[in-house]
Amino acid sequence: MIGDWVYINGEFCPHNEAKVSVFDRSFVYGDGVFEGLQAVNGGVFKLKEHIDRLYRSAHYLGFEIPIGKTAMIDAVLETARRNGLRDGYLRPIVSRGVGAIGVRHTEKLGPGNIVIVAQHEKVEDRSHLFAKGERAHVSSHRRIPPDCLDARAKTCNYINNIMAFLEARHAGCDTAIMLDMQGYVAEGYGSNVFSVRDGTVETPPTGNILEGITRATVIELCGEMGIPTRERPMTVYDLVTADEVFESASMAELVPIVDVGGRSVGSGEVGPMVGRLHAALRERMSSLRDSAPIFNN
Ligand SMILES: Cc1ncc(COP(=O)(O)O)c(C=O)c1O
Repeated sequence: MIGDWVYINGEFCPHNEAKVSVFDRSFVYGDGVFEGLQAVNGGVFKLKEHIDRLYRSAHYLGFEIPIGKTAMIDAVLETARRNGLRDGYLRPIVSRGVGAIGVRHTEKLGPGNIVIVAQHEKVEDRSHLFAKGERAHVSSHRRIPPDCLDARAKTCNYINNIMAFLEARHAGCDTAIMLDMQGYVAEGYGSNVFSVRDGTVETPPTGNILEGITRATVIELCGEMGIPTRERPMTVYDLVTADEVFESASMAELVPIVDVGGRSVGSGEVGPMVGRLHAALRERMSSLRDSAPIFNN
């Protein structure tokens, strides 16, 4: 359920009246940036990290977000507060600006729209997939390489990812594994990918992927739990011969993958490591250690 109130450029507006211009560059060209954050137990998990990434994405695209980071953090928390959101989803979106249609018309744009939407439950509750695991399609859509557009920027242009998702659905799968232009595993359509081999948790290096905040948290938790980790280039071979495979993202958290491109992973059942790490992640998310409190009490 969408929260009652939407933040638009410093004001709160009922969600069914929330509007931005049809001349907004994000609407016309996908020319904007966004973040997806989870509120858990009255705190926004890794809020600072998400806001830092939002500003890095905008800087990479070459536009300035009209308000500072502290004001953005306050706006996200206020959006949660206004909506009485203790658990759910928060999405800040910032566009380059509003102005004449035409790719080249970047100079006389008005300031970018800042919109923050809250949603009370998960976008899609995929917890049932924890019991049976997901089937992943190896996508024919390669992750856009950094010499075309750096995947570390979380831009409002998600067409590459959407095409991978649609193809996976068409193939009867739950998710997609996207490869880079060299054929190495990059990431999911909206997640990072991990494997487990002989007790070591492995994941592709950053470079062709979004630097996932959940990915970093998993690596951090492994360190604290004495679980060895390794970042290394991986191919589909590494996934299908692993003991376990799972994906990570802020909303989905960790989801086991038991089949990659029609080949079972390990025993073909959900393995123990993903469950252990998911329990540790949930615990971290619901403590205030890494979360900004929404409410004062
Ligand atoms: C393409 C892509 N990769 C990875 C992720 C996971 O990133 P995070 O853990 O920061 O949510 C996402 C989620 O937004 C994504 O869209």
